[in-house]
Amino acid sequence: MQRHGGLISRTDLADYRFVWREPIHIRFDSLDIYSMPPPSSGGVCVGQILKLLEPYEFSRYTPESVDYLHLFCEAARLAFADRSEHLGDPDFVPVSTSLLDEEYLARRRKLIRPDQASPSEQTRPGHLPAGESHQTTHFSLCDGDGNMVAVTYTLNTAYGCKLTVDGAGFLLNNEMDDFSIKPGFPNVYGLVGGEANKIEPGKRMLSSMSPTLVLKDETPFMVLGSPGGSKIITVVAQAIINFARFGLSLPEAVAQPRFHHQWLPDVVYLEQDAFDINVIQGLLGRGHDVRERQPYGDLQAIFVDDDGLMTGACDPRGRGLVAGL
Ligand code: DON
Repeated sequence: MQRHGGLISRTDLADYRFVWREPIHIRFDSLDIYSMPPPSSGGVCVGQILKLLEPYEFSRYTPESVDYLHLFCEAARLAFADRSEHLGDPDFVPVSTSLLDEEYLARRRKLIRPDQASPSEQTRPGHLPAGESHQTTHFSLCDGDGNMVAVTYTLNTAYGCKLTVDGAGFLLNNEMDDFSIKPGFPNVYGLVGGEANKIEPGKRMLSSMSPTLVLKDETPFMVLGSPGGSKIITVVAQAIINFARFGLSLPEAVAQPRFHHQWLPDVVYLEQDAFDINVIQGLLGRGHDVRERQPYGDLQAIFVDDDGLMTGACDPRGRGLVAGL
């Protein structure tokens, strides 16, 4: 090392230790496969490729058929995209345990087109459940006397204007961005406005918060709300429709993939990896501009049935919990 100007010292070598780690376990068909965990990407990527391909009917392929080579390459493309972002030495970076989740891989599998390669430049690493969110907070409450509370609390963007009040310990918001700065000029959520929402002394800025109570025959039925800036509106509207019109259970209504349109920009935003390729092509075919984006919103909802029994559902995209007293 010294002779060639290298950086590694005797102490570095003396300090190196091997570490026992739990192997990655992959259940593939009826096989239990054990392989190397991070800091190798090997076990996770082998596992992702196998699990992505598991549901396909292999009697239709041979080891050299185009269909098989295509599918394998598409699965490998997705695995290596995840590798680029989500894997590293677990002593230095948190490595998510969700990379081999059935549910996560089912979403990734939807990106595989049976007869067309997906360009790598349009293939992104998957979105994994986040830790602490940067967002606004919503909570929903309901009691046995039929009182319901929906609270959405916002600093606007992460850490507000990034100033705390000396000695008081709280952050100041940056809600001024919810005013329209000038006609047609988008705010941080891409919303445009004009005179009605211009800045004026004593005026309150136009919010999209939608803390919502729903009654049925004048009795409590639902209480819900979410963070998400302008997308709060479509998150809440879709949850009510999913539950009250499509008849999904409350957890399903909350978990259902989301889509968003807000007039300008003239784009349908679809949650990344959540929609079937046919849906995307169908929307494109009807003239929509379609873009995928990371999952959003953190809906907290309670449903009260005819007997007063309450069901709570927290968004699987966030870290909320249902609590009962
Ligand atoms: O009131 C509004 O519409 C915004 N200040 C909400 C911001 C928000 O939800 C940010 N979190 N995602």
